[in-house]
Amino acid sequence: MADGEIRKGLAGVVVDTTAISKVNPETNSLLYRGYPVQQLAERCSFEQVAWLLWHGELPAPEELAAFEARERAGRALDPRVRAVVDAAGRTAHPMDVVRTAVSLLSALDADAHDSSPAAELAKAERLLAAIPAVVAYDQRRRRDLEPVEPRDDLDWSRNFLWMTFGEEPTATAADVFRISMVLYAEHSFNASTFTARVVTSTLSDLGSAVVAAIGALKGPLHGGANEAVMIAFDEIGDPGKAEAWLDDALAAKRKIMGFGHRVYKHGDSRVPTMEAAMRRLVQEHGADALVELYDRLAAAMDVAKGIKPNLDYPSGPAYRLLGFDTEQFTPLFVAARVVGWTAHVMEQRAANALIRPLSAYVGPEEREVPVGG
Ligand code: SDX
Repeated sequence: MADGEIRKGLAGVVVDTTAISKVNPETNSLLYRGYPVQQLAERCSFEQVAWLLWHGELPAPEELAAFEARERAGRALDPRVRAVVDAAGRTAHPMDVVRTAVSLLSALDADAHDSSPAAELAKAERLLAAIPAVVAYDQRRRRDLEPVEPRDDLDWSRNFLWMTFGEEPTATAADVFRISMVLYAEHSFNASTFTARVVTSTLSDLGSAVVAAIGALKGPLHGGANEAVMIAFDEIGDPGKAEAWLDDALAAKRKIMGFGHRVYKHGDSRVPTMEAAMRRLVQEHGADALVELYDRLAAAMDVAKGIKPNLDYPSGPAYRLLGFDTEQFTPLFVAARVVGWTAHVMEQRAANALIRPLSAYVGPEEREVPVGG
């Protein structure tokens, strides 16, 4: 790339190195610290994957036990956070609620402005533990339900479902949710992660970087797509109308949510794993119409545009079957991606350079202000 060449959206531009994950469109693969994400999704708890992304290695048994104990001790909904969630009312979007709650959690941190590696790791662990309670309570309050106290006999993903629904998940539900969280945890320099790195590059704090990343993730071109997938499904309604709906949408130049990707151009490496998990839920719920719509729309999009689904496409139906409200889907993405964001904050800080690109000026040439203004 020549100096001064404009690459809108930074498409194809390598801006830094990372050791956290490798997204490889040629092999359609994703590695977290060298491990294929499909194997991690199959064999590891979310806590093990979080530790791997932060530390670079899977935890030893004693490391995992100590981490799990710290995480379980930090799950309860802070009354001050509950008050802020309540203050947001029910018209506020759940992404605005979780962004505001994380902002308060960070402001309340005793070591908010301590950016040492140990302090940032502790903050990352605390956010991982605290965000599920916010998302769970936000859904419950909109249904006039009281918050559910966390259980320290359940792992992170099962407790998340427990606090949301007030009942223990089935084995399939727990496994599918865990798989989705592992797949959502990290994806190199995506827009929200790069946002977190830009904020960190000014030597701002981890909390500010995560709040900024939540703002970036909210957009429907990025994390907001999983919510938008189900809004489209609800708009289509009858599976038999999928093809006609798509024709109209494409004719109107609409982006079809859940399809396409800036890096993967032959399909998102995570989709087969998430789709298989989603189909297990479909079987458990007998959701034949939902999966028929899912299959027909994907087939029609392949024929019409040759564009494949991304992770948000199978995640939407899975979260619907798990019982989450549609507007809570992207906050679920936040709960998982906070691990990737904080891993990148720590990596950026360890070898920092202020991120400040150039722009090519196309405004008016220099001119004189008229006398008298
Ligand atoms: C995530 O970066 C990451 O890793 C993100 C993520 C992560 O884990 O962090 O993977 C998560 O954000 C996945 C993406 C979720 N977003 C969506 O599902 C929204 C719908 N997708 C599109 O907006 C689009 O595919 C993007 C934004 C994801 C990628 O777009 P690009 O690479 O900028 O490509 P583009 O928009 O320039 O599209 C190229 C062509 C265009 O046609 P022309 O204008 O040249 O004729 O393909 C078309 C686009 O219109 N196209 C689509 C489309 N995606 C691309 N047309 C209709 N529907 C789509 N979904």
